[in-house]
Amino acid sequence: MHKLSICTALFSLALCGILNAEESMSMNAADKAMYAEMLENNPAAMDIAEGEELFNAQIGQEAYAKMLGVSVKDLPKTIAGFPRLVKAAGKVVTLSQSLQMAAAQQGKAVPKLESKEMVKMSGYVKSLANDLKTNIDVKVNKQMEEMVVLGKHIFEERRGGRGLSCNSCHSPDIIGSRLRMQELPDLGAPTTASASTWHAYRMTQSAMVSFDKRMQQCMKNALLAELPLGSKEMVALEVYVTNKGKGNTIQIPGLKR
Ligand code: HEC
Repeated sequence: MHKLSICTALFSLALCGILNAEESMSMNAADKAMYAEMLENNPAAMDIAEGEELFNAQIGQEAYAKMLGVSVKDLPKTIAGFPRLVKAAGKVVTLSQSLQMAAAQQGKAVPKLESKEMVKMSGYVKSLANDLKTNIDVKVNKQMEEMVVLGKHIFEERRGGRGLSCNSCHSPDIIGSRLRMQELPDLGAPTTASASTWHAYRMTQSAMVSFDKRMQQCMKNALLAELPLGSKEMVALEVYVTNKGKGNTIQIPGLKR
């Protein structure tokens, strides 16, 4: 029924086959109990606490605020607006990239974007904006305007062996249907709120995963070449997807399947 219209919209026989083979399935009682338990006691809270120690040892709020050109008091609302143009960088950067800049400025070793250290540190810093709404502004300057256009292009571009784009699975006409028993999520909807709930503890990986890394995992699953973290394309994608969920409340660490 609903699936047929999805297939005509998709033009992708490979994906159609997968979707049609799906059976509706919901979490069983044991899964639900485990999820509730983890909500109470998110295992990623430990990573966030380690991130706090790392951040305070390597950078500290004062030096970080100074690098961003804001007061310590304004740090949370500034953090709630990433990716953003950072003057000292001369371009739009992610929160993690801004932490690399601050570490370099402090004469400290610069953690790699994919390192565990960086995931913990950026998770902690993002959590400083908890309970605020994401306030990304894609019209505030020319650089942000360009990045959101590039990000939309990347989201919709069909790539890889199956000719899929992010939009093949995350467009308004397909979200809510199921792929390999997983509901296709509306990334911007308050119930998913991707940009404001990652870093999240991913139960299927027993680890805390950052937002950009989560997007890379979708690329891998859908056979799209993985865009490198920190590349202009990856940052643009983060701008675009974050803007879809602008106004959702930041709650780090999230808890996801
Ligand atoms: C073949 C279908 C498919 C494609 C293509 C795809 N995704 Fe996904 N995506 C999914 C499914 C299914 C889930 C939910 C998985 C789950 O529940 O664990 C998901 C989840 C996500 C999430 C996490 C949502 C949350 O819980 O907050 C993000 C972010 C995401 N995708 C981004 C992307 C981006 C960016 C692209 C393009 C580079 C992309 N996806 C391409 C199927 C896809």
